Amino acid sequence: MASHEKFSFATLDQLRQKIRDLGVDIGLSDDLSPLQKPVRIGDLTAPNALAALPMEGCDSLPDGSPSELVERRYKRFEGGGAGLLWWEACAVVEEGKANDLQMTLTRQNAGRFAALLANANGEAARRNGADHRPVNVLQLTHSGRYSRPHGHRMIPFAPQRDPLLDPRVGLGPGAPLVSDAYLDDMIGRYALCAKLAMEAGFDGVDIKACHRYLISELLAGHTRQGKYGGNFDNRTRFLLDVIGAVRRETGSRFLIACRFNAFDAHPYPYGFGGDREDMWRFDPAEPAALTRLLVKNGVGLLSNSAGNPYYIYPQVTRPFDLASAGVPLPEEHPLESVARLLGLTRSIQKEAGDVPVVGSGYSWLRQFIPCVGAASIASGGCAFVGLGRSSFAYPDAPRDIWRGGTMDPQKCCVSCSRCTQIMRDHGRTGCVIRDAQVYGPLYAQYREEAIAREGAK
Ligand SMILES: Cc1cc2nc3c(=O)[nH]c(=O)nc-3n(C[C@H](O)[C@H](O)[C@H](O)COP(=O)(O)O)c2cc1C
Ligand code: SF4
Repeated sequence: MASHEKFSFATLDQLRQKIRDLGVDIGLSDDLSPLQKPVRIGDLTAPNALAALPMEGCDSLPDGSPSELVERRYKRFEGGGAGLLWWEACAVVEEGKANDLQMTLTRQNAGRFAALLANANGEAARRNGADHRPVNVLQLTHSGRYSRPHGHRMIPFAPQRDPLLDPRVGLGPGAPLVSDAYLDDMIGRYALCAKLAMEAGFDGVDIKACHRYLISELLAGHTRQGKYGGNFDNRTRFLLDVIGAVRRETGSRFLIACRFNAFDAHPYPYGFGGDREDMWRFDPAEPAALTRLLVKNGVGLLSNSAGNPYYIYPQVTRPFDLASAGVPLPEEHPLESVARLLGLTRSIQKEAGDVPVVGSGYSWLRQFIPCVGAASIASGGCAFVGLGRSSFAYPDAPRDIWRGGTMDPQKCCVSCSRCTQIMRDHGRTGCVIRDAQVYGPLYAQYREEAIAREGAK
């Protein structure tokens, strides 16, 4: 591993030289045409190969309906011209929310989502041409161990004991784990939300299985007893049962997607996708088997992620220059973190065959995202280049890429972790740097409140 360094490249050649020096597997291409071509997702066609990744703003109304800030975010995302809009985490039940203001879809508020989606699609057509119709996928979630539906206290639904993570969510040795009966009941909730999403006009739903929320942790539940824990069949059972129930509820044509953690960077027997002796070494056996199972069960779109944003190695999910308060600087170069994510996506795309996989972890690359993304697609490493923090900072990046090929360095995300800091401080988030008028004052306010509440970190 090389030392951590901040982004410092003015030219593509400088970046190329650093990639060589570090010996990391990151391709670069001047031919950006792979980003501009339409991508087939089953019966659907995304107009280009750029995707806005799910980026939660923690800013819905208390009943989970879209607020003005949510409307603003999706108008910006859709107007930005991405071919695929992967909408943020939307809770399937109140108690599974990760924060008070997480998006939640219910029978009562489904009409609000339908109106927002129609407006957002209208904005996509208005700015990008009448025939520009992005594919819209809504991410469905239960936050599991990280449920915090009201106020500042976690109310965890943990699938297994974990000596590293239990103390962080206030889970004592005698506290109960989430029961099989509760999980059985949740299957129907996912199916109901999927049906509501379909009726609201979404093209598909994502059964979220990443970032160590409920389903992600179930995949890693080696020590859990009963039908949802232990061996691989049991650990994948809940996810597959949810997918089956969603398929029955929504019919054969509705898109079912899955964003899953290919690699938790968490030690055995508590992590998924890692070597049993060395948690930092990826073991592709189970992620590959899971990919094949998902495809066999009719999942038509995949996105892989990695890591646990709540733990001390957030670079595994999103490579960064500056850390949030209390998080150590990684003991690796951000390009090594980027290369890990690209490599994970490559291995999943290889297993998934014709089913498109959306890659992530590109934002740190700033104006060089197009060159790296185009090379990833051209070499079969992914079908879509997913943009997370970049979408907060620079929602028009897809338009700029497919129109002129270049991104303006002055508009790029600088991977400062401030949007994450707001989340950690329990506030409503967005880009503090490039959307400073809205999020600058909010950042300052939430920092102050968090320090008063928890002490300086
Ligand atoms: C503020 C914030 C909110 C996020 N919300 C979600 C989410 O709702 N669902 C999800 O799967 N990932 C979420 N992510 C992770 C991103 O989708 C993405 O995987 C990550 O930021 C790495 O991609 P990037 O380098 O393009 O930012 C979030 C990340 C951040 C920083
Ligand atoms: S606050 Fe803005 S610049 Fe900083 S990491 Fe988030 S999106 Fe990027």
